[in-house]
Amino acid sequence: MSIPAVPTRRPFVWPIRGLAYGGDYNPEQWAPEVWRDDIRLMREAGVTMITLGVFSWGSIETADGSYDFSALDEVVGLLYEAGIAIDLATPTASPPIWLQQKHPEIVPTSREGVHYSQGGRLGWCPSSPVWREYAMRIVDVIAERYAQHPAVRMWHVSNELGGGNRHCYCDASAAHFRRWLTERHGTIDRLNQAWGTAFWGHRYGSFAEILPPRDSESAPNPALVLDFDRFSSDALLEHFLAERDLIRLHSPEHMITTNFMVAQGPDVVDYARWAPHMDVLANDHYSLAADPQREQELAFSADRMRGLDTGRPWMLMEHSTSAVNWQSVNRSKDPGELVRNSLAHVARGSDSVMFFQWRASTAGAEQFHSAMVPHAGERSKVFREVCELGGILAAIGEVAGSLVEAARVAILVDDEAGWAWRSGEKPHHDLPPSHAAREYHRALFNRGILSDVVPPWTDLSRYDIVIVPALFLVSDADARSVAAAAARGAVVLVTYLSGIVDETNRVRAGGYPGAFRDMLGVFGEEFFTVQDGETVTLRGDGEGISWRANTWSEKVHADESETVAWYETGQLAGSSAITRREVGDGQAWYVSTRLDQDGIDELVGRLLNAAGVHASVPVAPGLEAVRRVADTHSYLFLLNHSAASITVELGGFDLLGGEEHPHSVTIAAGAVRVLRESRRSGEALR
Ligand code: GLA
Repeated sequence: MSIPAVPTRRPFVWPIRGLAYGGDYNPEQWAPEVWRDDIRLMREAGVTMITLGVFSWGSIETADGSYDFSALDEVVGLLYEAGIAIDLATPTASPPIWLQQKHPEIVPTSREGVHYSQGGRLGWCPSSPVWREYAMRIVDVIAERYAQHPAVRMWHVSNELGGGNRHCYCDASAAHFRRWLTERHGTIDRLNQAWGTAFWGHRYGSFAEILPPRDSESAPNPALVLDFDRFSSDALLEHFLAERDLIRLHSPEHMITTNFMVAQGPDVVDYARWAPHMDVLANDHYSLAADPQREQELAFSADRMRGLDTGRPWMLMEHSTSAVNWQSVNRSKDPGELVRNSLAHVARGSDSVMFFQWRASTAGAEQFHSAMVPHAGERSKVFREVCELGGILAAIGEVAGSLVEAARVAILVDDEAGWAWRSGEKPHHDLPPSHAAREYHRALFNRGILSDVVPPWTDLSRYDIVIVPALFLVSDADARSVAAAAARGAVVLVTYLSGIVDETNRVRAGGYPGAFRDMLGVFGEEFFTVQDGETVTLRGDGEGISWRANTWSEKVHADESETVAWYETGQLAGSSAITRREVGDGQAWYVSTRLDQDGIDELVGRLLNAAGVHASVPVAPGLEAVRRVADTHSYLFLLNHSAASITVELGGFDLLGGEEHPHSVTIAAGAVRVLRESRRSGEALR
């Protein structure tokens, strides 16, 4: 099976009234008495939808071809009676032990050639025909049995595809990879040309000679590595599509999705290229204890989710009520943080708040992961906040279906570009591909400016500012679209490490940053990395610029652009560091170095001025404000991340307090308010 060129999507039919609230429910871990208690507690908490069945395969198909649905039938019935909708998962994330015993060949093989053992999560290779047959059989049986059940309102294919089987290097994968390469490149000569196999004399005589980039002593060909990343993403997408199409036969009317893991990127699979195949997009987001700006990281992930499809709400399918169990030192949430995190996702476009998982496991691999009902039970901060959140989501239910106010700033990101940067040897090996996107997003976040974090092939015509942050790989067409945005009047900012390679991962020779050189009017001659702990300073002429930078610098000639700032110290003292050029009705800026956050903040201020972009929401330190817009009203989310109360001069009906605030609103430390506002005339819906 290959991936259809024109994806088919269902119309967006939201499965319940209002916002969905709940989490993964794994009743097979518990005795039937506990199920009844679960239902009581779900009702108390205001749960409206749960994801059922993610890990249920081994309990349903207890031996090859023998099924026992008694427990699942009963749970489905209990949920139905309680009026709780079911997002029914296929259980393919976790194949049963009997299957892995019988067919150990389905278990993935690592790059080093280690054939993994049974018992892992997603312990299967997407290229294995044996796996596919068993997976399709269980999906078929489940879809046939439950598709018409009135409690089942949507479908959840497997779980976090790629989170455990991102790459498989076995022989079945190698054969599948060769078929994929034949389709992509057509002839072996074209492949040799694209991959530059003349280097080291590694020319292939036929597709049959190609292997995945398995372990070898020296660096692999970056073009081979990038194609293997693409292939691995496509192999998992093929699996998704096979499950989805089978479910559709039984359940033509319901939306089908799978849960993504969109974070800072690049991700395990290429979600931007998966997105058009989803009826609704769903994400799992977990904050990292070590991240110094967790709320901005959450916002970045949510802005990426919305950027995958700005025309529909998306779903927060999983997050945590408190600590996870897989970071090195797991952090519990402060009082109120659970509610703030949840509403931050809703503010940025999610129509659901779901958690992993409903009841904390006492055994198994995730026994120390937080849940909606913690080990302590009901008498706990977590359960009290879970109930509070249920009340809040019911009170703001009318927000469902509204869209986040149109952003005027786009930040371009692409997983392929990140994979390309990570493939093979590079001038700098400790620079995460997404660092620049995060840094520019942070400057906007701190100023209350909403940005859409979008793939480079997005229609850029509605944006006034386009930021291209270390977009290492870019196609000619996408580079042209960025230049067209500038010509049309947008302010475009391109940073170092952008447009360096083409889609085959080959360097665009003739001066950096290859794909954007003409638009920017610069000629970059050589990279100069800045060693750890060192900084360079920049000075501008008459612009009050005295900035510091680190990590990266570049010998740039401002051939057809004006220099905004020069390097003042370091190996490049005296040469251009930041340039600007008028392009058509817009501007194109080039930043050849990694400014520190203060420098980025100031630079972003200049871009906003140049483009005439101002915050459309109140701005204060520690305040996150985002607006969602519906036909007759808009909804202003005000989240106070600080330790002091914040008052904003602005009126609206407080959906949580149930009262009108005509002129000003105070948000207590750590609290959230959601104001319903009358729609102002002329406001743009997407
Ligand atoms: C992911 C998975 C869940 C669970 C959580 C733990 O989101 O989908 O099943 O393992 O991680 O944080």
